[in-house]
Amino acid sequence: MKKTLLAFLIAGAAGLGLSLSAVSCNNSSECIEVVIPRPAAIEKCAGTFQIPTPLAVSFDTPQEVAASLEAYLKTTSLPATETAPDAALRFVIASEEGLPASEEGYELSVLPEGAVIKARGEAGLFYGLQTLLQLRSRFGDRIPAQRIVDAPRFEYRGMHLDESRHFFGKEFVKKQLRMMASLKLNRLHWHLTDGAGWRIQIDRYPELTEIAAWRPVEPWLEWLDAGRPYCRREDPNAYGGFYTKEEIREVVAYADSLHITVIPEIEMPGHSEEVLAVYPELSCAGKPHVYDDLCIGNDKTFEFLENVLTEVMELFPSEYIHIGGDEATKKGWATCAKCHARMQREGLKDLDELQSYAVHRVEEFLNAHGRKLLGWDEILQGGLAPNAAVMSWHGMSGGREAAASGHPVVMTPGSYCYLDKYQGNPSTEPKALEGSLPLPKVYMCEPAPEDMTGRENVLGVQANLWTEYVPTAEHAEYMLYPRMFALAEVAWTAPERKDYDDFHRRALLRIETARAEGYNTFDQAASERAERPEALKQVKHLALGCPVSCGAEWYESYAADGAGSLTDGWFGPWNYGYRWLGFLNKDFEATIDLGAVKAIREVKADFLQWHSALIGLPKSVEIAVSEDGEHFTVLGEEQNDLPFDDPKLQCRAFGWEGSAQARYVRCRAAFHGNAGGWIFIDEIVVN
Ligand code: ACM
Repeated sequence: MKKTLLAFLIAGAAGLGLSLSAVSCNNSSECIEVVIPRPAAIEKCAGTFQIPTPLAVSFDTPQEVAASLEAYLKTTSLPATETAPDAALRFVIASEEGLPASEEGYELSVLPEGAVIKARGEAGLFYGLQTLLQLRSRFGDRIPAQRIVDAPRFEYRGMHLDESRHFFGKEFVKKQLRMMASLKLNRLHWHLTDGAGWRIQIDRYPELTEIAAWRPVEPWLEWLDAGRPYCRREDPNAYGGFYTKEEIREVVAYADSLHITVIPEIEMPGHSEEVLAVYPELSCAGKPHVYDDLCIGNDKTFEFLENVLTEVMELFPSEYIHIGGDEATKKGWATCAKCHARMQREGLKDLDELQSYAVHRVEEFLNAHGRKLLGWDEILQGGLAPNAAVMSWHGMSGGREAAASGHPVVMTPGSYCYLDKYQGNPSTEPKALEGSLPLPKVYMCEPAPEDMTGRENVLGVQANLWTEYVPTAEHAEYMLYPRMFALAEVAWTAPERKDYDDFHRRALLRIETARAEGYNTFDQAASERAERPEALKQVKHLALGCPVSCGAEWYESYAADGAGSLTDGWFGPWNYGYRWLGFLNKDFEATIDLGAVKAIREVKADFLQWHSALIGLPKSVEIAVSEDGEHFTVLGEEQNDLPFDDPKLQCRAFGWEGSAQARYVRCRAAFHGNAGGWIFIDEIVVN
């Protein structure tokens, strides 16, 4: 067995003022790297640390830090007992040079003589302990000796949970908080209100939890189709639920003990059908659901919001309060006398400015109470409130705009961070949001690209679980894991330490332990075993690695690795979320430069059909060649005979076979003509 030690200096470690070596893991049985998110620096040392039973612990920390760590240790599987000066596990608060500057950073030494966790602050000690716990869950009581120095990339490392569309309850939330802590995630964005149900007790407005929290039809889509009915809590068919104040306090305190801040989201002014169902006077029409939005012309709306937020702030100590702000239809406002009067009085020129007025007004209220406003990127419309932070979900553009103007930003772009999309083969996975987000794609997320103006304003990154198609707690875990593992590494680990293959190896191990801990994870390995066979191995062909120019713009969310993905030798998987280039409503054209005139006998371009995502095979594919790149000869054109509405997920190659001489190979694919539809292509094979 060969042990490979790569002694290279890690940039992340250099940033911590350290130079440790990294350990490569060619042989998983000898590999000591198992932790997710991947630490900044790991040094393998000689021997093993045998965890004794009982395990004595010592604290060279302030008393309250020792008390909270001691309490936490009792909840873990470590056989920790009372403190002793010569303890095998020592916690030390220190400020020596060489320790990461971040309060969340730590140094963990696991040596034959004992384990020591050192940090500048309690959070660092807690995260060092998380690392130790992950090592133990992999190696048992004999942990290979090593020294880890680690600190997070981002201060905001978030997970969002929608409990309006489906309600899971506090034990579920606490279980996910435990997993979050293990992954060193530190913000739970709790989506507590939305059209499908209000989920938080507000004393002043009891109807919110007597009626707006309950619906007579459980499946979300059926409820929507039934005209969004609500019912009383006592109704025998009532589906829903809510958190009492006592339960919220319990969850918030529990999260706090795990170094997680809970950020509540109270949706406004859109996504408010459930509020309008019980307080119709807050709508423009003065009656329950016509549109989703609260009336902004009505002062009673602000009275309601301020009263609700006052009770919310009593429950949640979070600096940020999320006010939603997304997807207001604005339709009722357009014809509402009160909204028009407000616009006139305030000199607002359009409905975007009216929305912005509402956000500004709520921000002033929150600021006056010592809190800050966080909202989805629509709060940029009509002018951003002065102190607001933006959560960017329409791609990164809203985040870029806000960061460039100095506002704090949390990145959660839909194409990388929406865990309600398909993670495996869409034709065999349970119904999900149309769209595709396999594990590697989450891992590819880069929340603060180097070319971004104001990238220092990116607080961090978050993945979101919307639950329209997630009816049960088990299914929620299935959608969360292992993709949250990838998000955690995006949030914590410096880009130069990220490596998908290595992450993938650790993720499969972590899935095993998560399952043993009772989490219902997606079966990543089984999904990969059932993968499209062509996608498993790189194919060698004449155009491999050759430059390609694309004559059409691909869609931002389906960009693969750009035009180069057409000649990288990799076919796409069943899941079109990566390796596939997607083109919306247009023809496709690409020209490959083989570098010199060569004899060719085959050109095959591979396309995807998946009807429910409106991805169709092209109408026809034309192959042409040229020796000079200017004058092309058409070699052939192949017509598609598969109907656009054929529901079977499949891939098909179109092209030409024969004999020709060419330096340039051009492939044109005609759009199938179904408006709103797509063409997806992964590879053009030339032989
Ligand atoms: C959102 O996904 N509507 C924020």
